[in-house]
Amino acid sequence: MVDKYWEEKGYADVEVPEGIDLKAEIKRMCKEKNAVIMAHYYTDGVVQDMADFVGDSLALAQKAAQTDADIIVMCGVHFMGETSKILCPGKMVLVPDLNASCSLAESCEAEAFGEFVKAHPDHTVISYVNTTAATKAVTDIVVTSGNARQIVDSLPKEEKIIFGPDKNLGSYINSITGRDMLLWDGACHVHEKFSVEKILALKKEHPDAKVLVHPECKGTVVKLADKVGSTAALLSYSKNTDAKEFIVVTECGILHEMQKACPEKTFIPAPPEENCCACNECNYMKLITMKKLYNCLKYEYPQIEVDAEVAEKAIRPIRRMLEISAKLGL
Ligand code: 13P
Ligand code: SF4
Repeated sequence: MVDKYWEEKGYADVEVPEGIDLKAEIKRMCKEKNAVIMAHYYTDGVVQDMADFVGDSLALAQKAAQTDADIIVMCGVHFMGETSKILCPGKMVLVPDLNASCSLAESCEAEAFGEFVKAHPDHTVISYVNTTAATKAVTDIVVTSGNARQIVDSLPKEEKIIFGPDKNLGSYINSITGRDMLLWDGACHVHEKFSVEKILALKKEHPDAKVLVHPECKGTVVKLADKVGSTAALLSYSKNTDAKEFIVVTECGILHEMQKACPEKTFIPAPPEENCCACNECNYMKLITMKKLYNCLKYEYPQIEVDAEVAEKAIRPIRRMLEISAKLGL
């Protein structure tokens, strides 16, 4: 075990013993250590299948807040691990690869966002959950794509609002709530890649297909949607509608759960701009592999740590989100 080497890599870089039954071993360690595995819909299908709970960002935060496990293994990106650690400071929180960042979180550096906030002192600050703990620390209310609309709607009409970092989600919320929130100029590198032309071409081939779009996509793409929503909302729509075909305009990991839930339906992943037939993948989410999951449980590395002062400030807007969501039944 070379700790320095691991620190540089951001994960426990050890070969797993040959011939090992990874799934059985992961299950055994979870039981032995009272660990719970949570996974986001964008992770690899095999990782999702290993999880005790699979969900969108909102559900993952809600589950983390409620778990009585001693260890939370967050199979998702870094900010998801941070949110869990802030909510459960006494628990060990593991993310199998610390390099699993998020382009939205990266596009909103806390110091610069803090300056922006300071320049507009009469504004309520809403931050998307896809931010670092330090950015949440200068925020009044955190939202996810699953509750942003309802949380914005719950604020008085005249309230001035800053919304960061996703300008696409922010302008979508502006358009459906009639607000004029001040937007930070951030975007997700995956969702920005979808093109109107590619989706229209797919729609021509599959005229009856419903178009499912995540609100992190550009406005021109959102306009093509039959349903706009968080990953959980898109999944629920695909289960509950009579439609048999869907063009899915979000990270393609979600197709795993969609196809599992509705084996008789057809889900067509919308490709990214530069590639006509490939799936649009989040390279950060795909860093979470079975081998890293096994190693992180075995070596209890890498653990998420959040500076105590930052955590104390960041927990307030997260709690506010959870409280409003509970009140609204979300
Ligand atoms: P959800 O809120 O749908 O989980 O989305 C999170 C995310 O990272 C989208 O890119
Ligand atoms: Fe972040 Fe985009 Fe990946 Fe979601 S898909 S985790 S917003 S980089």
